[in-house]
Amino acid sequence: MKILNFGSLNLDIVTRVEQFVRPGETVRARSQELRCGGKGLNQSIALARAGAEVWHAGCVGEGGEMLLNYLVDHGVHTDYIENILERQGSAFIQVTDTGDNSIILYPGSNECLTEAQVKDTLEHFGRGDILVLQNEVNLLPYIVDQAYRRGMIIVLNPSPYNERIAAVDLNKISWLFVNEIEAEQIAGTREALVTWEKLHTQYPKLRLLVTLGAGGSVCFSGDYANQQPPYPAEVKDTTGAGDTYTGYFLASLAGGKTLEEAMNIATMAAAISITRPGAAESIPGIEEVLACL
Ligand code: RIB
Repeated sequence: MKILNFGSLNLDIVTRVEQFVRPGETVRARSQELRCGGKGLNQSIALARAGAEVWHAGCVGEGGEMLLNYLVDHGVHTDYIENILERQGSAFIQVTDTGDNSIILYPGSNECLTEAQVKDTLEHFGRGDILVLQNEVNLLPYIVDQAYRRGMIIVLNPSPYNERIAAVDLNKISWLFVNEIEAEQIAGTREALVTWEKLHTQYPKLRLLVTLGAGGSVCFSGDYANQQPPYPAEVKDTTGAGDTYTGYFLASLAGGKTLEEAMNIATMAAAISITRPGAAESIPGIEEVLACL
């Protein structure tokens, strides 16, 4: 079973501020750094750091060499990443003293996928292989349709949520990973159980994972449900914590762990990541995660 992640790669311009800047206000930054990010890249790094073999597909544009190198350095296969003449996608991130963030996304190269690239890439994958998707690239409905026809197991993290998700056929999705806000945007409620009941009725084959911040996470699969409490952590920067969870959870399942075990490992990995600055750079390795459990 192979894991393919068709996802974004962002240059994260991380600016630390005392508080988020307000309309009309100019504030002095405490620091500013250029880091590797993008929900796609972060999830590929988390999968790799958790011990999975992963192929990343997407587009790298001008200024994106450091992102490609970062994936290669972490053992992610980059055969299906295309180099294009477009500005690299980027994220302008404010991180406050409390570790909260706000993000402005510039899609750039991430929204330059073509149907030909999708088709050519998916030809290397088939029945039982896992496809991981987020909502920072174009052509999501097309990728889902093509992968479904090939019998792939499709995992969708519809983040950041926008109207484009409505065009994706959730009947073709095996796993949906959402936070409470995304649950409300999709199912009209932040209540995880109600979200599950609504989605399960409409899409009986779908499995659901909801991250609840301080409430931990909850997972539903058929008749099975499990709630995982969070691990306490000193928050420095929450950017990429959800991506860390997603990558670790999937790598654990692919590696034969139970849902309960996968949630536990993913929760610890995410807890460690928020004690460190950055998105991809904050993702711990599997030895460290297991040692902390
Ligand atoms: O999930 C965190 C990521 O969201 C950041 O790395 C940033 O690039 C944005 O896409």
